[in-house]
Amino acid sequence: MRFSKKLDDLGTETAFAVSAEARSWSEKGRKVYPFHLGDINMETPEIIRVATNRFMNNGKNGYCSSEGVIELREAIAHDVGSKRSIDYDVENVVIQPGGKPTIWKFLASVIDRGDEVLYPNPGYPIYESQIRYQGGIPIPYGYTEIQNGFAIDIEKLSSSIKPNTIALIYNNYQNPISASSSKEEMESLAELCIENNLWVLSDDAYYEIRYSDDPPLSIANIPGMKERTVILYTFSKRFAMTGWRIGASVGPKEMIRQIARLNINDESCTNHFIQCALAETMLDIDSDANLILSKLKDRRDLCVESLNSISGFSLSRPESTFYLYVNVSEPMKNKGYDDIDKFRIDALRNTGVSFCTRNHFGTPKVGEDEQYIRLAYSGISKIEIQEGLSLFKDWIEN
Ligand SMILES: Cc1ncc(COP(=O)(O)O)c(C=O)c1O
Repeated sequence: MRFSKKLDDLGTETAFAVSAEARSWSEKGRKVYPFHLGDINMETPEIIRVATNRFMNNGKNGYCSSEGVIELREAIAHDVGSKRSIDYDVENVVIQPGGKPTIWKFLASVIDRGDEVLYPNPGYPIYESQIRYQGGIPIPYGYTEIQNGFAIDIEKLSSSIKPNTIALIYNNYQNPISASSSKEEMESLAELCIENNLWVLSDDAYYEIRYSDDPPLSIANIPGMKERTVILYTFSKRFAMTGWRIGASVGPKEMIRQIARLNINDESCTNHFIQCALAETMLDIDSDANLILSKLKDRRDLCVESLNSISGFSLSRPESTFYLYVNVSEPMKNKGYDDIDKFRIDALRNTGVSFCTRNHFGTPKVGEDEQYIRLAYSGISKIEIQEGLSLFKDWIEN
């Protein structure tokens, strides 16, 4: 008996390992302040919960179409399209059990063995894992810290493109660093994709998790991009639905047909009654989503203020996502640490504050000498933020 060698190529989402450590620390009776996982400790809007129960109790308990319930595909085409000034219709949308499945189904649809795929690093770790598992070669691109956040190193990215590069994964409103592209940066990326005939996966998991009044930017609506871009859409973050597992792939019709074939081979269909409930409610719940957003914004402000009060910390206020990517090089040096994971574990044991580090978001590149941690504020109350970061401050400063 043996396991497939292919499994050696599969990575993981190491933030879940940090959760397990935090859980085991709390099972020992210790207080944990959970800044590690991008989960949300708020309720899904009531209108969705009520509609879901109704459809579950009224016959929507059987299989449905592998592409998804038509009314939900229509609603998503309208919502995603109108928020990006793109005309999408039902055939541009295929429903998925969450946002994550779009990553592997997109890659499985485009990769032949040995093809190269550009992906952000630091970035969501599943990109690297899935590119390799699907037989591709992951080629990382990075970010540089600028005055008010981070910018993509476009020159380096451009020099990594080769004849066998087939796709770019792009996560604007980025996890873990919360980077938002300027219009110019996005246009440069689009130009490179068009020139080199690349597919694009636009991971829009945080497209609606934005605190600025400026309209969001989408790479898909730049001329020449709609026909090569697949949008990862998810209900997880916007409506506090991480555990419901529902999202969609939105993109060119011929690509959507391929992804639907993968659906048939994988989950058959996504949960029928949840789809019906969202089809009925999703276009009328912007105010519920705004309530979630305003709580997140309060937490962001509190976290930024508390962290900036700690000696050696200096961070700007990200306009999107619910993550803070914090440079801890100086505090680590002051406390005599050169190993970021030892710093993380000691922080947990001494203060209960649990977070991820740069190492949880892709293999660090040679020459990276600054040290970063990522704090998520989506799953922790304001009182716990205050308490936890005050203990963290005492620990760092003493
Ligand atoms: C950048 C990014 N993409 C995709 C996902 C997956 O989303 P979902 O939970 O809807 O599968 C996440 C989840 O944290 C994420 O951060």
